[in-house]
Amino acid sequence: MTQPAATPRIPATLIPGDGIGEEIVDATLAALDALQAPFDWDRQIAGLGGVKASGDPLPPATLESIRRTRLALKGPLETPSGGGYRSSNVRLREEFQLYANLRPARTIIPGGRFDKVDLVVVRENLEGLYIGHEHYVKIDDDPHAVAMATGINTRAGSRRLLEFAFDHAVLTGRKKVTIVHKANIMKALTGIFLETGLELYERKYKGQFELDTVIIDACAMKLVLNPWQFDMLVTTNLFGDILSDLVAGLVGGLGMAPGANIGADAAIFEAVHGSAPDIAGKGIANPIALMLAAAMMLDHCKLTQQATRLRTAIDQTLNIDQVRTGDLGGSASTAQFTQALVSRIRNG
Ligand code: NAI
Repeated sequence: MTQPAATPRIPATLIPGDGIGEEIVDATLAALDALQAPFDWDRQIAGLGGVKASGDPLPPATLESIRRTRLALKGPLETPSGGGYRSSNVRLREEFQLYANLRPARTIIPGGRFDKVDLVVVRENLEGLYIGHEHYVKIDDDPHAVAMATGINTRAGSRRLLEFAFDHAVLTGRKKVTIVHKANIMKALTGIFLETGLELYERKYKGQFELDTVIIDACAMKLVLNPWQFDMLVTTNLFGDILSDLVAGLVGGLGMAPGANIGADAAIFEAVHGSAPDIAGKGIANPIALMLAAAMMLDHCKLTQQATRLRTAIDQTLNIDQVRTGDLGGSASTAQFTQALVSRIRNG
């Protein structure tokens, strides 16, 4: 299908990222090129790549680019555990106030342990225990004798995230939304989120979908026993991070899980997974999570037809052509999967 001549170009920032980033970004660009997606990419660096190139995990040029385009597709960025620099992902979310993290999980390969899963996790992205207010207290000669962290959730921050989630539920026809919390123990920190959600539902959304609440630990167990009882989960930062990996596991692993970070001023699309250093450079990474993130980006830009074509081609490549990477039980390389997908897009 040829792009109508009048289709406006869309400036967008591209951050290939670390580890398998370059490999899965190349694969995703091949798919977007085959779709003739109208993005004009501005390629920038961040994460370990930024540290190596300029000593900065989030260089000013990268920030300026996103400030200009307000739209980015991003590969995974490496963050050292324990010490070292602060996560560039967290900093990007803070810089552009990307308060909502949208993580859909849908079964694409039928017949697995959990068939026909179709769930969305909406995670608060800026508050909670991720704000980085942490410190150690020294006792005697042990500088790390005590570790402390402060979590902050605000009424305003909770409300704007819950409003985003509830609007998304209405827009996409979700029947049930479940607020996940731990207000029995962290009565203030997660109680404020629960209380705000219940109040908002009563005031503005009652009757548009069913609202349910569940405690995080019970939610984890219920997701594994019967994930079909849920439709959309909305929760605070840390719980959302953990639950979105859990639901990714229900639909075939991290290689199948895309994510969108959305704020008032910008949107950044990425895979849920990290830089996978154990398989980087081997040409075997599964690029589907980033491709599905690109489909979310197309939706965000109202290019729904191209988004649907991309999702359909992924489905056909996996299920009709049976071309799958190793993490999905197949033997295809990233390049072989991409080649098969591009043929499907061109011939579909
Ligand atoms: P990871 O998600 O990179 O890898 C976990 C396991 O899943 C590994 O065995 C890996 O090989 C496998 N895996 C991940 N993506 C895959 C793919 N597309 N195809 C096939 N297998 C895949 O998590 P890990 O190892 O804990 O983190 C590595 C680095 O990534 C860390 O520095 C971490 O901070 C960073 N990270 C970055 C994220 C981001 O940029 N959004 C998100 C999560 C972690």
